[in-house]
Amino acid sequence: MNPAKGEVVLGGIKDYEQRFIQAKRILIVGCGTSWHAGLVGEYLLEDLARIPVEVEYASEFRYRNPIVNEDDIVIAISQSGETADTLAAIELAKSRGATIIGICNVVGSSIARVTHAGSYTHAGPEIGVASTKAFTAQVTVLTLMAMMIGQKRGMLTGSAFHRLVNELDGVPDKVQRVLASEPQIKYIADIYKNATNALYLGRGYSFPVALEGALKLKEISYIHAEGYPAAEMKHGPIALIDEAMPVFVIATKGASYEKVVSNIQEVKARKGKVIAIVTEGDRVVKDMADHCIEIPDIADQLVPLLSVIPMQLLSYHIAVMRGCNVDQPRNLAKSVTVE
Ligand code: M6R
Repeated sequence: MNPAKGEVVLGGIKDYEQRFIQAKRILIVGCGTSWHAGLVGEYLLEDLARIPVEVEYASEFRYRNPIVNEDDIVIAISQSGETADTLAAIELAKSRGATIIGICNVVGSSIARVTHAGSYTHAGPEIGVASTKAFTAQVTVLTLMAMMIGQKRGMLTGSAFHRLVNELDGVPDKVQRVLASEPQIKYIADIYKNATNALYLGRGYSFPVALEGALKLKEISYIHAEGYPAAEMKHGPIALIDEAMPVFVIATKGASYEKVVSNIQEVKARKGKVIAIVTEGDRVVKDMADHCIEIPDIADQLVPLLSVIPMQLLSYHIAVMRGCNVDQPRNLAKSVTVE
């Protein structure tokens, strides 16, 4: 990305730009955290590039006889580039003539080698089993992809494109500001470290982050957690809410803000404990929630890059306080190379 020139170039997919421009459909496959990044990718590509996207668990895709056409683009996301289900999903899509684009972190990995083209995330080695920086890097690449394709398709033009370029350029500084909240996050972690269940809620771009927050808590602290689209809560999970249930809500200013505020009211009416991720300066949610963690104001499309950090830090501190091994959680492998 070159903010001065106002352009986004992804060298690894340059030869496939035309296919993206003409694409009728994009499929995204991955597992775990990479699948969550894929969900953010769906929202980005549909929002900014106006191409229909379907996101699939690689393990389901490979066995359910999916419809894959020669003019489909399949984006395979994998930190390790070695996940067996994602590799098998790629082979299936490839055998049906689709163009396969990889988003991998490990250079020269199996997935990087079998895809037609792709972009490395270059996040550096990710040692901990729980994926963190890989998510940020995957979402960043997907954002760049959606911006580039959106611009080339004429869907993201002029000031809207330049605003996003500038906002993306400002993300590292804003991440630093989020990290400055760590003492407060640790304080909140101490209060909820003995919870047995937790609910994570978000809408729009924040829904995949709710899923990712819940996965992080489960993986490293062994607390049962569910991620849900906030509005779906009333179709079931609301029955779980009582004074012992921490509910982590991403309630940043943006398209779904008012709706999420009413979801918070629904939780408070049932005596749930609300820990909200809010935009700096928010007073409305602060008056309702039990705890608020502020993040800087940013375009809706870029909120996941900031809001995932308090989620990761909360899980980290809760796990450390519970005496769990955060680097190597039980029963988990860094890369799942078998079915
Ligand atoms: O290497 P991959 O991105 O293909 O791995 C996919 C999942 O196994 C991985 O994201 C897993 O869910 C992590 N433990 C999540 O923290």
